[in-house]
Parts: sequence; structure tokens; C-alpha cells
Amino acid sequence: MAQGKPYRFESYDGDSSVAVFLIDPGGEQVEDAYAEVEFGNLNPHLDDGVPKVFRGAKLGYVTGIELPDELQGRGIGTAMMESLEKLARGRGVETLLLHPIGIPDPTRFYLGLGYEPVSPLAGQSLPLYAKRL
Ligand SMILES: CC(C)(COP(=O)(O)OP(=O)(O)OC[C@H]1O[C@@H](n2cnc3c(N)ncnc32)[C@H](O)[C@@H]1OP(=O)(O)O)[C@@H](O)C(=O)NCCC(=O)NCCS
Repeated sequence: MAQGKPYRFESYDGDSSVAVFLIDPGGEQVEDAYAEVEFGNLNPHLDDGVPKVFRGAKLGYVTGIELPDELQGRGIGTAMMESLEKLARGRGVETLLLHPIGIPDPTRFYLGLGYEPVSPLAGQSLPLYAKRL
């Protein structure tokens, strides 16, 4: 592995999604290290539909973020989300939505990044979080 080089991100800028991948100091893509936002049709991710308060806004949905165990807890996830948010903003996304689901529960991670729970609506199955970019 090359010495002295930091981990860096590589981005994917697609028609209906943007993503960030982690590249190790040797220049290799790290397996299972990515974050993605979709901004096409969000219906598959929002069982209860788009909450009224967001209708008309250009929305993105964080489909996932993941790091291998040995790289967690070093601030890489935070930097990865910030890089992803910048990419999404560059594509006109105004508000990001997500469901914090993971083991252990990543809710604190998202709260630290400024995501806030959307008031639960009757019948909603999962807590939805949002951040205005
Ligand atoms: C969630 C994840 C991407 C966070 O990345 P990370 O690089 O470990 O996080 P950071 O080092 O940037 O941590 C930032 C803050 O979030 C907290 N945090 C990170 N992961 C957390 C978790 N799973 N549960 C609770 N808090 C968490 C950290 O403690 C830190 O807060 P602090 O500075 O107040 O202590 C990473 O832990 C992971 O891949 N987890 C497994 C997959 C997962 O749960 N993905 C989320 C799907 S919605």
C-alpha cells in the first residue's frame, strides 16, 4: 500500500442517482464502502408516499451508506455523507430524506449531520428523517 496518501472519495453522477465510493491509500476501491442518493422516482422507498410538506420540492432519498467495520468511527462516514450531500445539491436536490435503519441504530449519526425526524403521520410504518440542503 502506498504510504502517506489519505483515503479519498470517488463519485458517480448518474441520471437519477449520485453515489460516493471510498478509495484506499493504495488507489483501490474499498469493498462495502459507499453512500448513495436517488432522486428519480422515490415511491419505491416511501411506502406511505411523499409527506405533503415536501410535495413540490426536489427530493432525494439516501438509499444507503455503509463502511466496513474496521473503518467505522473515524469520521469517514460523516465526510462521505457531506460529499454525497454536495453532489446531490449540485443536481438540484433541495431536501434529502432517509430512514435510519442499521445495526447498531445509526439515528445518532444522522442527527449529528443535521437530519431531523419528520412528524409521524398516522399509519406511517418507519420513522422518516429529512434535511434541507
Ligand atoms: C453508520 C456509518 C456509515 C457511520 O459512519 P462512521 O464513519 O462510523 O461514523 P463517524 O465516525 O463519522 O461518526 C459520526 C458520529 O456518528 C456516531 N455514529 C456512527 N455510527 C453510529 C451508529 N451505528 N450508532 C450510533 N452512533 C453512530 C459516532 O459515534 C459519531 O458521533 P460522536 O462524534 O458524537 O461520537 C457506519 O458506522 C456504518 O457503516 N454502519 C453500518 C451500516 C449502517 O448502519 N448504515 C446506515 C444505514 S441507514
